[in-house]
Amino acid sequence: MPVHTTAIDLRSDTVTHPTAAMRAAMAAAEVGDDVYREDPTTNYLQERVARLLDKEMGLFFPSGTMCNQVAIAAHCQPGQEVICDRDCHVFNYESGAAARLSGVQLHMLPGPYGLISAEQVEASIRQVDIHNPQTGLILLENTHNRGGGVVHPLPDLEQIGTVARLYGVPMHLDGARLLNASVASGTPPDQIARPFDSVYFCLSKGLGCPVGSVLAGSSSFIARATYLRKAFGGGMRQSGILAAAGLYALDHHVERLAEDHHRARWLASTLATLPVFAIDLEAVQTNIVLMDIVPDHLSAPVVAAELAAHGVLVSIFGPRRLRLVTHLDIGDSAVEQAITAFKTLYG
Ligand SMILES: Cc1ncc(COP(=O)(O)O)c(C=O)c1O
Repeated sequence: MPVHTTAIDLRSDTVTHPTAAMRAAMAAAEVGDDVYREDPTTNYLQERVARLLDKEMGLFFPSGTMCNQVAIAAHCQPGQEVICDRDCHVFNYESGAAARLSGVQLHMLPGPYGLISAEQVEASIRQVDIHNPQTGLILLENTHNRGGGVVHPLPDLEQIGTVARLYGVPMHLDGARLLNASVASGTPPDQIARPFDSVYFCLSKGLGCPVGSVLAGSSSFIARATYLRKAFGGGMRQSGILAAAGLYALDHHVERLAEDHHRARWLASTLATLPVFAIDLEAVQTNIVLMDIVPDHLSAPVVAAELAAHGVLVSIFGPRRLRLVTHLDIGDSAVEQAITAFKTLYG
C-alpha cells in the first residue's frame, strides 16, 4: 500500500522527494554511456567528490550498499577477515553480502554507539599463522546509524589509521552520512576521509537525491572498483541524469544538514520529557533520534502503529526501540505536528 502522502515521514532520510529545482537540473543533464566512461555529468561528479574527499578518483554507484561491498571485494581476498563493529550496516543490513560476494568473515567488536577504539582494533589484528584468518580490512561507519547518528571523533579515526598503517591493513569508511558528520563537527570532509584508503558517501540520504553514492580512493583502487562494480551489476548507462541531482545537492543541500540536526535535537529534547520514552540525548548529534519505550504494556510495533494512525511514520529499530530521522522534507511545522501527535498519544 503506498504511504499516505500527507504523513510526516520520519522513518529515514531516504524518503525524500527531489525538489523541482533538482528535477530541472536532472532534466537538463548532458549525458553519455557511462560504461564507456562517456557521461560528462557523471565524470564531473566523480571528479568533484574526489576533490572534496582529497582522493585521486571517484566512482558513481547506485547505492551505498554496493559501495561497501565493492570496497570489501576490492581490498580483500576470500577467507580474509574484516574488522568492524557489531552494530555496523555491513553486518546488520546488507543481506550477508560480504560472505556471499567476497567470501570474507566479519570480526565484530563491541563499542559504545558503534564506535570502536584503536586499542580494540590493534588487539584484533591477526598474527601470521597458518591457523589464523588474515586481517584484510578495517571498516568503520561515520556517522553511525545504529549508534544513533553519532559522529566518530576525528582523533579516534586518526589513531585507528595509525594502527592500520603499522600493520599494513587497508581502511574503508562507510560514510553514508559523512557530510552529516562533517557539518555537525565542523570538520572538512577531506579530514574525515584522510585516514581511509577508500571512502564513500550517499547522495540519496540527507542530500535529498533519488539515487546514488560516490566511492573515492586511489586511481588503482578505483580501477579495481570499476571492474567489480560492473561484475556486481552496477555499471550504469546515461547516469548523468542521476549525477546531476548529486551535483545540485552538493551546491544546495550540504549546509542545510545543520537544520536537520537542529530539528532532530528539538524532537529529541521535547520527546524526552514524555515519561513513556527514554532518549539518550548525548547521542543526538546529527539527524537521527533513537527512543526506547519504557512501559511494559507498550512495544515498538504498537507505538509505531498508533503514531501511523495519527499521521506520523517512524522506524521500528528493535522490540522496544524506535528510530526517527529528520531530512529535507521535514520542516518546522512537520516537527510541531509530530510532537503534537506524540503528546496526544503519550503526554
Ligand atoms: C550507515 C549506512 N551504510 C550504508 C547504507 C546503505 O545505503 P543504500 O541504502 O544506498 O544501499 C545505509 C542506508 O541506510 C546506511 O545507513
